[in-house]
Amino acid sequence: MSTREIAVTVNGAVQRHAVEPRLLLSDFLRGTLGLTGTHIGCEHGVCGACTVLLDGDSVRACLMFAVQADGCRVETVESLGRIGQLNPLQQSFHEHHALQCGFCTPGMLMTATDLLKKYPLATDDEIREGLSGNLCRCTGYEHIVAAIRAVVKERT
Ligand code: FES
Ligand code: FES
Repeated sequence: MSTREIAVTVNGAVQRHAVEPRLLLSDFLRGTLGLTGTHIGCEHGVCGACTVLLDGDSVRACLMFAVQADGCRVETVESLGRIGQLNPLQQSFHEHHALQCGFCTPGMLMTATDLLKKYPLATDDEIREGLSGNLCRCTGYEHIVAAIRAVVKERT
């Protein structure tokens, strides 16, 4: 099987690996790097669970090959914070009960991170529009919107 050398900066650290050209970015992150915070749901671009940031913009990791990220910067949910040191968005999700099973949460957090960067004072409509590509089967979305709204409020 032929492989190709890639160098991807993941959460600030350069990762050099020989990968098969068919390896998905989502499988590279989870399987090769062990960053299992990036979830895989539908594997065809519908659910948003696999959302990561690529050079600062949110992308579906299941719709990209790892070789396409060669030379790029990738940020996963592991970059946001950790237990005991949640970032403000994670803390707000916690405080507003914005998750139940948590399967959609990494994708929601990364999408919201991108959204809040582009729309620091996002309105409710902008928040809902921004989340429209991420599916949640548990929460009904209201608590997720409330969590993001609270972060915006902190900024005003
Ligand atoms: S797993 Fe990538 S969009 Fe669903
Ligand atoms: S919290 Fe279960 S899918 Fe969103």
